[in-house]
Amino acid sequence: MSIISKDISKAIELLNNDELVAIPTETVYGLAGNIFSENAVKSIFKTKKRPSFNPLIVHIASKNRLSNIVSYIPIKAQLLADAFWPGPITLVLPKKEIIPDLITSGKPTVAVRVPNHPITLQLLNQLEFPLAAPSANPFSNISPTKPEHVENYFKHDIKMVLDGGPCKRGIESTIIGFEKDEPIIYRLGSTPIEEIERVIGKISIKNKEEISPKAPGMLERHYAPKTKTILTDDLTKSIKFHSDKRIGLLIFNDILNDDNIQFKVVLSEGSNLYEAASKLYDALHQLDEQELDIIIAEKLPNYGLGKSINDRLSRATKC
Ligand code: TXA
Ligand code: MG
Repeated sequence: MSIISKDISKAIELLNNDELVAIPTETVYGLAGNIFSENAVKSIFKTKKRPSFNPLIVHIASKNRLSNIVSYIPIKAQLLADAFWPGPITLVLPKKEIIPDLITSGKPTVAVRVPNHPITLQLLNQLEFPLAAPSANPFSNISPTKPEHVENYFKHDIKMVLDGGPCKRGIESTIIGFEKDEPIIYRLGSTPIEEIERVIGKISIKNKEEISPKAPGMLERHYAPKTKTILTDDLTKSIKFHSDKRIGLLIFNDILNDDNIQFKVVLSEGSNLYEAASKLYDALHQLDEQELDIIIAEKLPNYGLGKSINDRLSRATKC
């Protein structure tokens, strides 16, 4: 029996009883629980097999509630909240004492965002607590952008996926932290740097940190299919090199035909990076189901959302 349902009152009932519900957002589906319930938060870590050192994002209903969660808001953080919320930006700020250490993995900071999905905003408005929600995939696997992806991962572990259809943006939020009041990108994501810089000026990126990562999305291998996957900017050469194998292709816009290709997904025939981002994870899920020997992914143009997509692909292809 499917656990996918549109019943918001059922989701509220489960969440009030310390249970987990997968929720839709504009980026990816989240595995949500009450931030103040120790049982719920522990079961998020357990269900995802997520190491306890990786903190969770707190989801709130509106930017007016930010001051309930954090103790200090730098001017540029407020500008970002005003410009982008509800939307795919997560702010990392000093936490208020009421935020449990379990959520932040003992850090003095907390990650917060207002997701832009009508059903989840309705849900958050009706709950008396914010929701902790990491992406609803087992640790290091491909993130889910459709209710069925979550069901495939967790049908034996959770009672409900709140059905909000396919996620419109398709890759996770951009995470921004502050060091001496200056913003730093900790994770590239659905909001391109260029849009952020239009609001607050130049921003630096600290997207790679191999020891003690600031965000696990920064771990080298992440978002990964089970099938061996490589990233290339020379498709023809890579296809030739692997011609003795069952090849799956993930390409940006080209209709490339080659007898060696068993299966292929084109991300955006019209070369639109937003469309490509929204289809990326579903394409990886599809390719991973084809029993291929190798997935060859094409590097996208390295600007705007292309930069975020390339970041995810390079992590998906790390051994
Ligand atoms: O789009 C998204 O952000 C999705 C949807 C469900 O909202 N959520 C998501 O959560 O991607 P998750 O848990 O897969 O990634 C959260 C990231 C992790 O890389 C985590 O390390 C980072 O946020 N994070 C959380 N709290 C942090 C903190 N205090 N300092 C630095 N990074 C933090
Ligand atoms: Mg994740």
